[in-house]
Amino acid sequence: MTTIVQAAYIVSALLFIMALAGLSKQETAKTGNAYGVTGMTIAIVATIAVALKAASAKGALGVPASIGLIVVAMAIGAVIGLWRAKSVEMTEMPELIAILHSLVGAAAVLVGYNSFLTDKGLEGALANIHSVEVFLGVFIGAVTLTGSVVAFLKLSTRISSKPLTLPGRHKMNLAALLISAGLMVWFVASGSIVPLLIMTVIALLLGWHLVASIGGGDMPVVISMLNSYSGWAAAAAGFMLDNDLLIVVGALVGSSGAILSYIMCRAMGRSFISVIAGGFGGAPVSTEEKDYGDFRETNPTEVAELLKDAASVVITPGYGMAVAQAQYPVADLTARLRKRGINVRFGIHPVAGRLPGHMNVLLAEAKVPYDIVLEMDEINDDLANTDVVLVIGANDTVNPSAEDDPNSPIAGMPVIEVWHAKEVIIFKRSMATGYAGVQNPLFFKENSAMLFGDAKERVEDILKAL
Ligand code: TAP
Repeated sequence: MTTIVQAAYIVSALLFIMALAGLSKQETAKTGNAYGVTGMTIAIVATIAVALKAASAKGALGVPASIGLIVVAMAIGAVIGLWRAKSVEMTEMPELIAILHSLVGAAAVLVGYNSFLTDKGLEGALANIHSVEVFLGVFIGAVTLTGSVVAFLKLSTRISSKPLTLPGRHKMNLAALLISAGLMVWFVASGSIVPLLIMTVIALLLGWHLVASIGGGDMPVVISMLNSYSGWAAAAAGFMLDNDLLIVVGALVGSSGAILSYIMCRAMGRSFISVIAGGFGGAPVSTEEKDYGDFRETNPTEVAELLKDAASVVITPGYGMAVAQAQYPVADLTARLRKRGINVRFGIHPVAGRLPGHMNVLLAEAKVPYDIVLEMDEINDDLANTDVVLVIGANDTVNPSAEDDPNSPIAGMPVIEVWHAKEVIIFKRSMATGYAGVQNPLFFKENSAMLFGDAKERVEDILKAL
């Protein structure tokens, strides 16, 4: 039985690695998902077998009770999971991911306490190692739990996305870490529940404070960092439960989340340390009300004329395209322009939208060919030779003040330099700011024109005019 389970775990672990490899490219993402689902199914079946074996060892009553608990728990989870998967809007994905991470954190805390209360038979070095596992598992889990709840509240605008800047915040974070380290020594030496309880409270507050002190603009990195934390929390739970697969999967999630956070920090011109330290060296915010001058307004007929005369067009989508669900008419427009022999390409900013790959998923859904969907670095040099750029619901990711204004909250974030093109058309409903809450001087440039209204309706109007 143990050999079969171990073999199943190895197969699952390999399938998870293949799933990650598949998910890293659009062309192979579906196969990657299928590997993941298969791996998870095998893992669940094998784990249930382990749980039932352990239950049968405890006596006849154990097995039916265990089956009952597993079925009830899985049924509740499946109902909630199916309902959320069906009802969640693509734009609400980051909130959903944040709240799911909080569940992983909560699970690690509960597993830690359970493990502390039930595993009493260990002695010597083994007992010490077990205590360290419990302590670290509860610590990481508690930080992940409250950190994810704050991320959820910020992303769903239930609380302000402004960073909380308490005086001496870095010292407080450092003190929390040092006190927790001291509590771990006490916990390992005494085996008492008191240091564990005190540390849990400190870790819950630390998680809350770390994420509360991160500004809205840096939230994408926070989400992928919490993803990483949740992986390490799961790995810690794997050590406590003596489950090799959970350790492997936790480490995979933990390290891939850390790599993604690093890539996103680089894409946003942020230092990794400053983001994980929570608002460290928070960007200065410009408070002066600047006069940017006047903006020009255009209409769908004029835009259609511009497009007809263009030889090359670049589309830079952002969060607004997702809100308007404009990807389908955008795909039609792309096909129509390409038929006329116009070179149409997409320029995708790494944090456009509200989750990594958001725009790529939407465009793939609308069947836009992958080979014309380019990344920011691939498109930026070509923009000077582009006739028309259509900025569809993007704002922060095309904001020149990221490059020109060192006082801007998004200063240092690389952006798509659409203003180098001959004409820039900006699709949005008003002059409102984007996610980072800063005005965009692009709208007031001479070669820019605003096309107001819902992005989907405006693109459809252009299609009609064409
Ligand atoms: P944003 O800067 O958020 O701007 C989106 C724009 O879309 C807004 O200016 C809005 O203007 C417009 N819009 C909204 N609904 C629309 C509709 N129905 N039709 C037309 N326009 C509409 O978008 P972005 O350029 O994609 O930048 C993303 C931002 O989100 C960055 O600051 C990034 O750091 C942050 N963020 C990203 C992520 C990830 S991982 N991608 C996660 C969390 C946060 P109106 O209201 O005037 O229409």
